[in-house]
Amino acid sequence: MNDKGNKENKEDIKYKFATRCIHGPKKYAPDVYGPTNPVTSPIYMTSAFNVKQALDGVLPNYIYTRGSNPTINELQSKLADLENGESCLAFASGMAAISNTLLSLGKKGTIITDPEVYGGTHDLLKKQIVNFGMKIKFIDFNDIEKVQNSITDDTKVLYLESPCNPTMKFIDIEEIVRIGKENDILTVFDNTLNSPYNLNPLDYGIDVVVHSCTKFISGHGDTVAGAVITKKRTILKIMKVLHEFGGIISPFNAWLLLRGLRSLHVRMERHNTNAIKLATFLESRDDKIEKVLYPGLENSPYHNIAKKYLKKGFGGVLSFYLKKGLYIPKFLSTLKIPAYTVSLGDTDTLIEDPYNLSHFGMPRKTKKTIGINFYMIRVSVGIEDIEDLIDDFEQALDSI
Ligand SMILES: Cc1ncc(COP(=O)(O)O)c(C=O)c1O
Repeated sequence: MNDKGNKENKEDIKYKFATRCIHGPKKYAPDVYGPTNPVTSPIYMTSAFNVKQALDGVLPNYIYTRGSNPTINELQSKLADLENGESCLAFASGMAAISNTLLSLGKKGTIITDPEVYGGTHDLLKKQIVNFGMKIKFIDFNDIEKVQNSITDDTKVLYLESPCNPTMKFIDIEEIVRIGKENDILTVFDNTLNSPYNLNPLDYGIDVVVHSCTKFISGHGDTVAGAVITKKRTILKIMKVLHEFGGIISPFNAWLLLRGLRSLHVRMERHNTNAIKLATFLESRDDKIEKVLYPGLENSPYHNIAKKYLKKGFGGVLSFYLKKGLYIPKFLSTLKIPAYTVSLGDTDTLIEDPYNLSHFGMPRKTKKTIGINFYMIRVSVGIEDIEDLIDDFEQALDSI
């Protein structure tokens, strides 16, 4: 039995996932928040800390929020713990986390990635990262021989996401890890779509995990944020870039994420079950739907690979193609429950057509190559009652 009042015992115990979502590793709370002992941590909305003790030669823990802040530190400690990682840095957005990580780890080298990575990352690599003297190669990460052959002496990073947003391609993570380890190249994994509930990529040998915390980690669609989780020595490298570029998360947003994390396990459980039920229903509507993309479906080409890694569920995001000739705007506007918008991972169901919305800026040729066409719809399945969602999709499909 564990003694709830005994700090030493508490630090010895590795609680199960749900307990850690709520309580975190409890490393900061007793030291930082002091004798008031709040159950819910306060928000340290301060840009600077009075460091008079430094005048007496005592090194302060906190000086300036761009460098360090108790609320942000608590979030970082919780996220590192949930990803089974050593250390974490939180950022103002997912893109800030990805860009700062790549600027730091890809320095003077080549980054190799799959063409189906999230459109924002695709743009970042092609339009911004190249301006910092790095080279980018897009290779199909399920063609292991091609990945192997594309490695050169200056390859610094293998960057992947799985499933890819919005094509739902699933990559065999351990194969990429093997190539990374054999060639002494870092692997960076965007775990946004899985959240730490469905997958801990570091357990499979991935070196660095990045997140858009805007999505499932927040869960409530009320903040934009990002995070990187990896070994302490790698975090120290990325931290320099963060401090100098300045893309720090606000303590208020860090607090919102701490609140969101308290229910991550419950929300993800429901996202997983709702998504497979909706995917199965959509697959049954082959009168209007050409194809459903969801690795949880047995006839998905990625089902067997995904099953190897996703033990709790296949996540809350799915895509599908409506049959050619159907009027997409009518379908989207007839739906009553989902919001027509970008983003994903909220309690609310969100729907969009990536060709026109989230991937609007991606060159048409790239969209065509990776299968983002006019008829593709992406759904972030929320945690509403699934019967209501299915009824709603049914009436919208019947309307076209
Ligand atoms: C997989 C993935 N990674 C990264 C991002 C970027 O995150 P943010 O919008 O928080 O900057 C997104 C945003 O949609 C995403 O879907």
